[in-house]
Amino acid sequence: MADPTSISCEHLTFSYPGAAELALSDVSLKIPPGQYVGVVGPNGGGKSTLVRLLNGLLTADSGRVQVAGLDPATEPFEVRRLVGVLFQNPDNGLVAPFVEDDVAFGLENLGVERAEMRERVREAIASVGLAGYERREPHTLSGGEKQRVALAGLLAVRPEVLLLDEPTAMLDAAGREEVLSRVRDLAGSRTVLHVTHHLQELFDADRVLVLNGGRLAADTTPLELFSDAELLRENRLVLPTVPKLAADLGLPFCRTPEELAAAVARRSRDGVQAR
Ligand SMILES: Nc1ncnc2c1ncn2[C@@H]1O[C@H](COP(=O)(O)OP(=O)(O)OP(=O)(O)O)[C@@H](O)[C@H]1O
Ligand SMILES: [Mg+2]
Repeated sequence: MADPTSISCEHLTFSYPGAAELALSDVSLKIPPGQYVGVVGPNGGGKSTLVRLLNGLLTADSGRVQVAGLDPATEPFEVRRLVGVLFQNPDNGLVAPFVEDDVAFGLENLGVERAEMRERVREAIASVGLAGYERREPHTLSGGEKQRVALAGLLAVRPEVLLLDEPTAMLDAAGREEVLSRVRDLAGSRTVLHVTHHLQELFDADRVLVLNGGRLAADTTPLELFSDAELLRENRLVLPTVPKLAADLGLPFCRTPEELAAAVARRSRDGVQAR
């Protein structure tokens, strides 16, 4: 049997009806189980299209997709049991009258037993910082709160593969950190595809895909990408402040201000010793 958690695309090509340009063009990649993969690239690069093809919302014009050993186009219901998606716009995902029903929705579809369902829903709502929101109506929530509800629904299901399309785009700074730390917890035990415009969210990724104009412009590691000024520029990517400062100072890669301060201190100490 094919591996249950890998993602594979072979020569994947897709264009929206009536569109002059291909939204995805000849994309081939293979993601082993448990890998944490970032997806970056300019607006219109094809990131959300890739997510939609992976969960069977769209069907490829040519090429092949497999997720968790299944073809999402022919087995969409099976795929959705194993693959959780967080869409870029949370309004598309919220369907139930109350927050708690929405978070339970995926579990109901899976036929999870009542008591376990209640416990998983409670835990998932708390883990995204929304305890007390159980009986709120989703349409009365702010954008970031809706995004958290959608994430809670995903966490409650505990899918094998998570497809996250800009999961932090609508969140405040603290919310962004909370969601990223949940994503990091999951990475390793789950396959995670994390689409983002913020490279600093991908410091912990095993791998980064760059999509530009529907093509896979790079399939690399965060460190390689961050140190390739041309690749960054060509794909409208901007280095986060701390690594940029480190690079400008001729220091090795640093992710946090503390690491940068330590690197500066080390260099001045070594400089003094050398004199
Ligand atoms: N429903 C649609 N109908 C027609 N064209 C579409 C549709 N959705 C996306 N496109 C086009 O397909 C291309 C890829 O779009 P996609 O949404 O995948 O980009 P993206 O990388 O997710 O961009 P962003 O960073 O803005 O979210 C773009 O040229 C876009 O205009
Ligand atoms: Mg998108």
